[in-house]
Amino acid sequence: MKYKGIIFDLDGVICSTDEYHYQAWKALADRLGIPFDRERNNLLRGVSRMESLNIILEKSEIAYTEEEKLAFAEEKNNTYRQLLARMSTADLSEEVENALHHFKRKGLKLAIGSSSKNAPYILEKIGLADFFQAVADGNGITHSKPHPEVFLLAADMISLAPKDCLVVEDAHAGVEAAVAGGFDCAAMGDAKSSPEAKYHLESFGDLLDIV
Ligand code: BG6
Ligand code: MG
Repeated sequence: MKYKGIIFDLDGVICSTDEYHYQAWKALADRLGIPFDRERNNLLRGVSRMESLNIILEKSEIAYTEEEKLAFAEEKNNTYRQLLARMSTADLSEEVENALHHFKRKGLKLAIGSSSKNAPYILEKIGLADFFQAVADGNGITHSKPHPEVFLLAADMISLAPKDCLVVEDAHAGVEAAVAGGFDCAAMGDAKSSPEAKYHLESFGDLLDIV
């Protein structure tokens, strides 16, 4: 086997919560009268909540205080959590579920490497709370992607060296993080054509041909 483990990003890879991030930020941006669209949203993939907010506020004519920014981040997160609350095991696609079980049967170590502080909640909603050997997420890191910290933490949690793990990402910041950490990366979604990624996936199931 080429790899001993796989580290998956969560939002936009395991499930489509990237869409909910967009909707929640869009609601905030509209309320504040700040231009924001799906293309700009791609810049937020993989980066932390506060960094995402700062990217959105670059288009604002008003300079907000730190206190106001914290309130905006909380407002977005509340909207986002309302969307997450509606999720269920039906939000885990068959394609993803089947591939994950296949990798587990093959004896690969499987981990999550996500910048999100909501990762444990999402995993619980889609029925994967106890599935992964390790969950490295926004609650346990200081630097979000493109810094490699979350992937290095995940690899450490499953006792594997970066060279033995494949990272799966939909964000350019995530591909950059993986490469910086010494991991091979399979890119999909927005990052699909990233020149830094070793593999380019049309969809999640294409991983079955790689690992
Ligand atoms: C990443 C998303 O997974 O998590 C980013 O791609 C998001 O868009 C980041 O900003 C932080 O998420 P949360 O749930 O902690 O606000
Ligand atoms: Mg993602």
